[in-house]
Amino acid sequence: MSVEVENVENLKISEKVDKDDDGDVVDPWNVTSKSDKGIDYEKLIKRFGSSPIDTELLTRFEKVTGKPVHHLLRRGLVFSHRDMHTILNMHETGKKFFLYTGRGPSSGAMHVGHLIPFQFTKWLQEVFDVPLVIQLTDDEKFLWKDLSLEEANRLAYENAKDIIAIGFDVNKTFIFSDLDFIGQCPEFHRNILKIQKLVTFNQVKGIFGFGDSDVIGKIAFPAIQAAPSFSSSFPFIFGNAKIPCLIPCAIDQDPYFRMTRDVAPRLGFFKPCLLHALFVPALQGPQTKMSASESNSAIFLTDTPKQIKNKVNKHAFSGGQPTLEEHRELGGNCNVDISYQYLRFFLEDDERLEQIRSDYTSGKLLTGEIKKILIETLQPIIHEHQERRAKITEDKLKEFFTKRKLNF
Ligand code: TYM
Repeated sequence: MSVEVENVENLKISEKVDKDDDGDVVDPWNVTSKSDKGIDYEKLIKRFGSSPIDTELLTRFEKVTGKPVHHLLRRGLVFSHRDMHTILNMHETGKKFFLYTGRGPSSGAMHVGHLIPFQFTKWLQEVFDVPLVIQLTDDEKFLWKDLSLEEANRLAYENAKDIIAIGFDVNKTFIFSDLDFIGQCPEFHRNILKIQKLVTFNQVKGIFGFGDSDVIGKIAFPAIQAAPSFSSSFPFIFGNAKIPCLIPCAIDQDPYFRMTRDVAPRLGFFKPCLLHALFVPALQGPQTKMSASESNSAIFLTDTPKQIKNKVNKHAFSGGQPTLEEHRELGGNCNVDISYQYLRFFLEDDERLEQIRSDYTSGKLLTGEIKKILIETLQPIIHEHQERRAKITEDKLKEFFTKRKLNF
């Protein structure tokens, strides 16, 4: 496997990422656009220096795995990548890689936007039959939010139940809280330090926009999110084998991994490969992402059927026309209609989705009707999730967090 050398330009390009000419801001903590259409993802690919997922890659994906691609890939909702061809080459030649993803436990309730990268990761785990590590950055949330260490750590285990409920295979999945794991695994801590020694304050300022008044914990943190990309951080899983990793996430997390890819060759490690998802937008419209700290912007995994119904009816931004007559004549705009946008993520049936798009665009389907379809799509997804979560015992939770060999 070739380890290409990251060009220095790539990191420099990222320095301009935080604010482009149109006012789009995309970083791990802020996602906003001034445009009615929302984030310009094509431009983002250029500024971040990643690659678009094109038909050629999708065709190869299907050929190599022998399975149809996930609807998120088919619909361009997982839209960008770094070195996915390398991963497919490895799979083709019978070589193993591992998956790495994570969650910052800032609140007890995750929202349906968070489901996206995890559902996609589960599919990747099944299709490629590979081990997975999931990092819970309770340390990050302690540093960034008004949370005590104890509370951030408690939320990590609460969120883990939601993650496990998505259906990960316990024999192939290791979940860890940074607060607990760093002290238990010297190899992980050593990798963090090696990374910290290679990245200057100037570089993290450029990549993450840190300023002089940011606390030093924040400045050092990116190395902690970078370290799980390297198999030597988990000797109890990988032994001495050097194995590359693939990281599925939404594109807000990419700055961490641009930094990681820059340091990896200097440490003799593989650069992590990435698959980037779009953001599930806020209920209020495509200008910002669904956020756990804005309760009316999101549908939570803890919401009741009634709350889902009320939130969608009251807050989901409509691409419909102001009057019934105008709507019948001019039709709705699916590009900005939040109900349609959510259905693209959560309704798997392609034919039904296309019918809805065509009927809403022609004016046959009204705003109230498309909202009803969304409500009826989300309610069972969340209800079934809650049922699976309720069945997770403390023993099962512990099993996922236990340092052990994985089956692969
Ligand atoms: P966090 O908790 O903000 O988000 C967890 C995962 O969900 C994605 N995400 C979204 N995806 C679609 N639509 C949205 N509206 C939306 N909001 C968030 C995030 O991109 C992420 O994939 N620092 C990280 C935790 C982390 C991590 C990782 C994430 C540690 N290591 C490796 C991905 C990969 C965080 O706070 O994620």
